[in-house]
Amino acid sequence: MALNPLFFRKTLVAGTGLFLCIFLIVHLSANCILLLPEDMARELYNSYSTTLRESLLIKIVAYLLYLSIILHVVYALLITLRNRKAKPQKYVVNHTKDNSTWTSQNMGIIGTLILLFIIIHLANFWARIKLGIGESPGFDATGNIDVYEVTYSLFQNIYYVIFYTLLMIPLGLHLHHGLKSAFKTLGFYHKKGLKILAKISLVYAAIMAIGFGIIPCVVYLK
Ligand code: HEM
Repeated sequence: MALNPLFFRKTLVAGTGLFLCIFLIVHLSANCILLLPEDMARELYNSYSTTLRESLLIKIVAYLLYLSIILHVVYALLITLRNRKAKPQKYVVNHTKDNSTWTSQNMGIIGTLILLFIIIHLANFWARIKLGIGESPGFDATGNIDVYEVTYSLFQNIYYVIFYTLLMIPLGLHLHHGLKSAFKTLGFYHKKGLKILAKISLVYAAIMAIGFGIIPCVVYLK
């Protein structure tokens, strides 16, 4: 039996999305180090970052992460374009309002905002630290790249603090809706089970949005 292309696309978006959700848990946990007192946080954050850059296993996982981001964006875009083509009447009268949420109808714009955030975020950190583009970061007392300082100096700029904090609103909305949809796409149809998964999605999205949103504010005020 031939594989339905829409099913394939949706499964790919759901699978890569779940992988990205796991990355965010690890990424938030690591960035919580920034909330510790400076004498503890600097060395810990920098040595964690060095371990990530030097481990072969983590390097492979990082390439999987980049591939997942690209596949997630491209296939989500293909699904959105196909849905638009299939529902031209949406622009005349909105029939979908009764049975779908504001977030589900605006996943395109929300996803674009998150993509914009990721591009700027990677330019702020990843390009400087991993690719050596822009001002070279310094080193700490133990000889590790001072990623802590890069982060701290970025969040001394109030515009970056506002940008990072505000963009966590679309991230939270996207994670809430995306996680719920991913569970359905991957075959969870049980009504009661879906209700529990919807609650888990809400809690997960709130922790991610509040956690990532609060860090730049705390760093700014430290
Ligand atoms: C308080 C907020 C955040 C801080 C302080 C932060 C910090 C960092 C730092 C320092 C790096 C470079 C790590 C290194 O190479 O040593 C990094 C990489 C990255 N961040 Fe964030 N991040 C934040 C939020 C986010 C969010 C919300 C996302 C996704 C929506 C994200 C996605 C990524 C990705 C994809 C990478 C590249 C990972 C890699 O190459 O291994 N970050 N972040």
